Amino acid sequence: MLKKVALLMVGGVFATSVLAQAELFKPDDLVKYRQSIYQVMSAQATVLGATAKGDIEFDPEVVRERALNMGNVAKLLGETYVPATQGVKDSNMLPAAWEDMDGFGDKGKAFGGALQELIAVTGEEGFDKKAAGPAIVKVLKSCKACHDDYRAD
Ligand code: HEC
Repeated sequence: MLKKVALLMVGGVFATSVLAQAELFKPDDLVKYRQSIYQVMSAQATVLGATAKGDIEFDPEVVRERALNMGNVAKLLGETYVPATQGVKDSNMLPAAWEDMDGFGDKGKAFGGALQELIAVTGEEGFDKKAAGPAIVKVLKSCKACHDDYRAD
């Protein structure tokens, strides 16, 4: 049974799951669901990273859209962190994450906070490349910070 569901808040603005719904999912499917969310986030991060590096032309609308996309899928992550997924072979989530849910949650919050900051800055008057760069880099660093500790290479 998936009674004990570890809910992870990915930043304050993002809703967590409803427990009853999480119980509908099989552990194997939850891992695929989780990895798919990360793939969608990764595609958004690729565009944001290329913008920060200057590989593509800066477009404020694109940065905002990509950041919002990321937020829209990231809010679904929480319902995938069900303890029963720990036994799923294809999962690259390290045991360290399960043993230290507080630390893992802190990394999630750091990411959520950085993403919120990026979204906020895209809505400001005169939002430009100079403002976008550091805010994007902060989000991308928060991805790596979690992977370093809690994801298998
Ligand atoms: C709070 C921790 C955390 C944060 C923050 C985080 N990730 Fe991850 N990420 C993980 C874990 C854990 C996995 C392994 C999931 C699994 O296999 O069960 C993962 C897996 C992935 C994967 C591989 C998915 C697959 O197909 O196996 C990609 C790509 C990825 N993350 C990208 C990102 C990007 C991009 C960001 C930031 C925008 C990010 N992650 C932020 C913890 C995090």
